[in-house]
Amino acid sequence: MDKNPMDLKIAVKGIDKVYNDGKKSAFKAIDDVSLNVYKNEFVCIVGPSGCGKSTMLRMMAGLDFPTKGIITIDGKKIIGPGDDRGMVFQTYTLFPWLRVEDNIQFGLKLQKFTKAEQEEITYKYLRIIGLEKFAKCYPKELSGGMKQRVAIARALANNPEVLLMDEPFGALDLFTKSQMQLLMRDIWQKEKTTVIFITHDIEEAVFLGTKVYVMTPSPGRIHAEIEIDLPENRDLDLKDTPEFIKIRRSINEMLHPDSNKLK
Ligand SMILES: Nc1ncnc2c1ncn2[C@@H]1O[C@H](COP(=O)(O)OP(=O)(O)OP(=O)(O)O)[C@@H](O)[C@H]1O
Ligand SMILES: [Mg+2]
Repeated sequence: MDKNPMDLKIAVKGIDKVYNDGKKSAFKAIDDVSLNVYKNEFVCIVGPSGCGKSTMLRMMAGLDFPTKGIITIDGKKIIGPGDDRGMVFQTYTLFPWLRVEDNIQFGLKLQKFTKAEQEEITYKYLRIIGLEKFAKCYPKELSGGMKQRVAIARALANNPEVLLMDEPFGALDLFTKSQMQLLMRDIWQKEKTTVIFITHDIEEAVFLGTKVYVMTPSPGRIHAEIEIDLPENRDLDLKDTPEFIKIRRSINEMLHPDSNKLK
């Protein structure tokens, strides 16, 4: 499907990333990666450990910079972090000394919102993530899945145009992970956010994504770009359908061509 160039949100053009560039310990983590993220897309980047997924996301967040090539948002070069992008990390990054509601409100306090507006926004997202009852709790009183829900709410409360997520459900048990996937699809449909979601879980990438980039390691490259032609409204039963399994298997074959054989 041809996309409108006006809707191009983030463009990664011919990126190399060499760590310790110019030194003896120089290491090329990313090699000539290009990708496009359009408005309202849910883009998943899937690949094995060490293929450069976090490196890619950190550069899109403006927390690190390419050695070669350019990354733009709305046509402008990314030169640092900005409130147009919200980040959810793999590890739990809530402020432990702040209650749930204050964690979500944290970014809003730095903006020009009245106290009443801050609370309205905070409680809107607490409702969306289903944790209103835990507003006064501290992070240590929450489970891992609950903490990640608060982290998502905190990112969303700032109303970012793009949500950058680095394996946010990697540490969760299978059931909680599935619930979080449903929640993410729901939020994405309601909020019309543009999402870039990193995972090494192929099933997760296919279930969540409207588009999946497959990365391969040493150095990290884009192996394939796959438009996910599955229904807009998704429930967990989709994972058992032949259409879903076919896409999941084709990506698995790209990443692990010999996975059927005992080594
Ligand atoms: N600050 C750094 N200095 C040197 N090398 C680094 C640095 N950060 C990452 N690397 C290397 O770059 C490569 C890609 O790392 P990255 O964290 O992006 O991988 P990843 O795909 O996110 O892996 P995982 O799935 O395990 O999170 C790895 O080989 C790693 O050792
Ligand atoms: Mg990583």
